[in-house]
Amino acid sequence: MIRKQDRRLKVGILGCGPIAQFAHFESAAKARNTDLYAICDVAEDLVQRMGDTYQPAKRYRAYDAMLADPALDAVIIATSDAFHVPAALKALSAGKHVLCEKPIGIAVEDVEQLAAAVKRSGLVLQVGHMKRFDPGLEAARDFVRDEMGQQLALKAWYCDSTHRYTMTDAVQPLPILSAGARKPAENPKADLRRYFMLAHGSHLVDTARFLCGELIEVNARLNEKFGAYSWFVDVAFANGCMGHLDLTVAVRMDWHEGLTLYGENGNDSLLGGNGADRVEGGGGSDVVSGGNGADTLYGGAGGDTVTAGEMRAYAAEGHFKAGSMGPKVEACLRFVDAGGESVIASLTEVGPALAGRAGTHIVPDAPAARTQTPRRAAQRTPARKKTAAGQTDEKPPDRRRTTVARPRREENP
Ligand SMILES: NC(=O)c1ccc[n+]([C@@H]2O[C@H](COP(=O)([O-])OP(=O)(O)OC[C@H]3O[C@@H](n4cnc5c(N)ncnc54)[C@H](O)[C@@H]3O)[C@@H](O)[C@H]2O)c1
Repeated sequence: MIRKQDRRLKVGILGCGPIAQFAHFESAAKARNTDLYAICDVAEDLVQRMGDTYQPAKRYRAYDAMLADPALDAVIIATSDAFHVPAALKALSAGKHVLCEKPIGIAVEDVEQLAAAVKRSGLVLQVGHMKRFDPGLEAARDFVRDEMGQQLALKAWYCDSTHRYTMTDAVQPLPILSAGARKPAENPKADLRRYFMLAHGSHLVDTARFLCGELIEVNARLNEKFGAYSWFVDVAFANGCMGHLDLTVAVRMDWHEGLTLYGENGNDSLLGGNGADRVEGGGGSDVVSGGNGADTLYGGAGGDTVTAGEMRAYAAEGHFKAGSMGPKVEACLRFVDAGGESVIASLTEVGPALAGRAGTHIVPDAPAARTQTPRRAAQRTPARKKTAAGQTDEKPPDRRRTTVARPRREENP
């Protein structure tokens, strides 16, 4: 159980809809430095159900009443996009810090007005770009900051899948919805170009900015066919790096996201790629796949360690649903058997057997019990890395991360 600090922020959550249920209620309740102090929704049934489940100190149906509560320190805005800026402005006026879901707004002018209000208030406003706290991207950021040197070019991609729901419906809890939920007057999905760019593009652009800094040029092309939208965006960064961003909704293949950044002192592929030294399903991807010859395959990140044999036993006990998690678990085990050192699989791979734990690190069985297969990794020439001085060094050991950043995915229309 997480040990709470003595000094904690009292958080109130505006909106009891899907994203509050998937992310914010638990995060605010679990974080060592916050209390889930209040929840608020106009929908009475949602407030009642979520209040009974998460037991906040206060329940509100009126946002103004929650903001008037002097004990409240900060709000999380978990409403439809169109309400973000007005709700954030109100919170700042009431002297509350803000964590606002992305996208921060739906019009540049509104967001500029908000930025000015934040400056005037002296309060903290953070946009809920959670990918910045993804362990894979944090490692990439550290590498970029400490070792990479000058940046030459970035290519990054974010591709939704035509069969995403076949995957996610099987592993995610169903959100509780309400007929009384407040929705914006204009249906956000009436204009899908705008909706996809706001809902998904905001993640891609934020990731690019996280690693390469301020964008100074943008030139986008859109190809729209058979219900699919593909943007190829040429960008330039203030630091002289050029970039190519690919946002495609949806591809007839698995959801995939990733990036490669070419730099002065290393061209390591940071995320993705068969045969890479390190393969990560950025964002704690649900899907564990690929990894030909990789030393380590990350499908999300985890903490607890189980052996391949134990995973098989869990599977035999029926903890993984046929046709959904089964193939992923099988892929993990095949990978370990083929000589992969280990697999870190997200909680969704692990199922109820390990519910409540952060995730799972699957390792090969003890040598005697293990089926011996040729070790592909051992047959490969060790990866070499160029130093700043131009010499080559042996590849440094993998830096493993052990925290979970569960993916949160937008909905297709
Ligand atoms: N970070 C991510 O990856 C990610 C993923 C999914 C959704 N989101 C974002 O989360 C936000 C919310 O998504 P959702 O699907 O939960 O939305 P939703 O519209 O289904 O739910 C929002 C809830 O807020 C309530 N609400 C709105 N305005 C209110 C007000 N003034 N007072 C009281 N209650 C109010 C509504 O009644 C509703 O129950 C969106 O901006 C979306 O882009 C982010």
